Amino acid sequence: MLKRRVEQSVLGLLASRRSIRKFRKSPISEEILHLIVETGQSAPCYFQAYSVIWLKSEQLIESAFETCGTEAIKQASAVLLVCVDFNKLETFAETVTSEHFLNLDAYPAEVLLSVLEVGLMVENMVIASEALGYGTLLLDCGIYECERFTELLKLPNGVIPLTILLIGEKDENPPPRPRWPLETVLHVDGYRPITSKDAEKYLETAEKLLAREGYLLKYANFKGSYSEYLAERFNANKELRQSYNALSSFIRKHGVKV
Ligand SMILES: Cc1cc2nc3c(=O)[nH]c(=O)nc-3n(C[C@H](O)[C@H](O)[C@H](O)COP(=O)(O)O)c2cc1C
Repeated sequence: MLKRRVEQSVLGLLASRRSIRKFRKSPISEEILHLIVETGQSAPCYFQAYSVIWLKSEQLIESAFETCGTEAIKQASAVLLVCVDFNKLETFAETVTSEHFLNLDAYPAEVLLSVLEVGLMVENMVIASEALGYGTLLLDCGIYECERFTELLKLPNGVIPLTILLIGEKDENPPPRPRWPLETVLHVDGYRPITSKDAEKYLETAEKLLAREGYLLKYANFKGSYSEYLAERFNANKELRQSYNALSSFIRKHGVKV
């Protein structure tokens, strides 16, 4: 009974959502795009400190592809750069009081809560896209290349690119990707840290699931195991340290005190 209700409701839609990395090139109407962004806006909000920039021109799409190197950018029907927007927030705050928190040296809660609300907004856009029959992909390149996007779009202080959302016609039907078991996510009346055994068990399950799909080879052209892939991904090498230092100082310089 519950299973059928789930399948027939939005829960079924959420359970069958996958990140789509192969799109069939097709146009998207302004009406649909507006509907998706408005649905994003109907998510729970805090200061609505976000902006979505639709990269619509061929030239900007090409620049986004050159910046991120992700092929799906060229096939997507819409390329949206989603930003945390403390520029808008500052103008808004100024209209209310000149002694607002954005003048402080740090406002950690607002930074974190704004990132949370952007996430909720983005997820609403993902769900709206799914409901309308489109597939989606998020790209971390928005934040890693925030300096490049700022320059490209001449973004003012306080507007920090966070992620890129691709929306498009699905050209693949991938299987489920791994998730940690519920007991490592849901804690009742307290908190239980995971053990290295939990981590090993998760890695083993994830390894099998992703290998069945040929995930790493297909999407990252990586021939090793998932643990080898993650070891590279997590590695705090010199290059990563330098790029993180640059990223932190860029974000601070652009008016968001993280
Ligand atoms: C903040 C964020 C950034 C992501 N960045 C990328 C990315 O740059 N490239 C990519 O292929 N997938 C990216 N993803 C998608 C994840 O890889 C994907 O959601 C995860 O592997 C689970 O797969 P599923 O979405 O199909 O369930 C990102 C997801 C999130 C939440």
